[in-house]
Amino acid sequence: MMNYSSRPPEEPAVHAQDLTVVRGPRTVLRGLDFTVPRGRITGLLGPSGCGKSTLMRAVVGTQAKVTGTLDVLGSPAGHPALRTRIGYVTQAPSVYDDLTVRQNLDYFAAVLDPGRAAADRRHENVTRAIADVDLTTHADALAGNLSGGQRSRVSLAVALLGTPELLVLDEPTVGLDPVLRRDLWQLFHTIAAERGATLLISSHVMDEAERCHRLLLMRAGEILADDTPEALRTRTGSDTVEDAFLRLVDEAIATGRTQETTQETTKETTR
Ligand SMILES: Nc1ncnc2c1ncn2[C@@H]1O[C@H](COP(=O)(O)OP(=O)(O)O)[C@@H](O)[C@H]1O
Ligand SMILES: [Mg+2]
Repeated sequence: MMNYSSRPPEEPAVHAQDLTVVRGPRTVLRGLDFTVPRGRITGLLGPSGCGKSTLMRAVVGTQAKVTGTLDVLGSPAGHPALRTRIGYVTQAPSVYDDLTVRQNLDYFAAVLDPGRAAADRRHENVTRAIADVDLTTHADALAGNLSGGQRSRVSLAVALLGTPELLVLDEPTVGLDPVLRRDLWQLFHTIAAERGATLLISSHVMDEAERCHRLLLMRAGEILADDTPEALRTRTGSDTVEDAFLRLVDEAIATGRTQETTQETTKETTR
């Protein structure tokens, strides 16, 4: 195996080739090829059910029945060495309502880095993570009393505890009002810029696309585009990424490139 330091710095954070995932009777990811560049924010966008969470679970190594090639930070996805190098926030993050912000983080820090000897380091990491998400003044508030946006930031702080190189955030802005969404995106940019971290962020809201450096547009288990928001708009002659997405969907249907729709509809109705 290649040694980490000898690898070129431009090697992507994630590299997938023919990535396929089967869940129950369905193939939910169909032979995907894509890369996620380092130090950038990549948006994984597509409608509900297209496979965003499945793809993220494959990247963090918690998804069963994954075939093809999937390299993450230079190791195969799921490799034990990646555990502390990846921060992951699931779609329904678990924050304990009856604990304060700091107690929540203390708990997760202890899980991540157990042992009496690590106590000082943990305390430092917790304080830093709380400051990173701008919750220092709320550190002693019960999580149950926080607003939706503040709770999202607690989850993000948990993911930041181990100073991860790759952050995988599954729909972190869902249900937040526009101001909180903007604030959270600003925070993502700060994390990418100041830490050089790689962020993979999913959303089913297309207008979040413009906030990303790069986009993976998904539909029905396939990747329609892997590009920058600007290049996508230019290439499709669209004013917005949402329009670009719709054009790409029409194109895929017209050229028969999509395997979905008819197949899935038949399955649903004959069940
Ligand atoms: N346990 C399961 N068994 C079979 N199919 C599943 C299961 N869980 C999810 N799916 C299917 O996998 C597809 C992708 O789901 P998911 O990755 O959660 O999509 P997204 O995150 O984009 O909403 C969906 O069409 C869903 O119906
Ligand atoms: Mg999902």
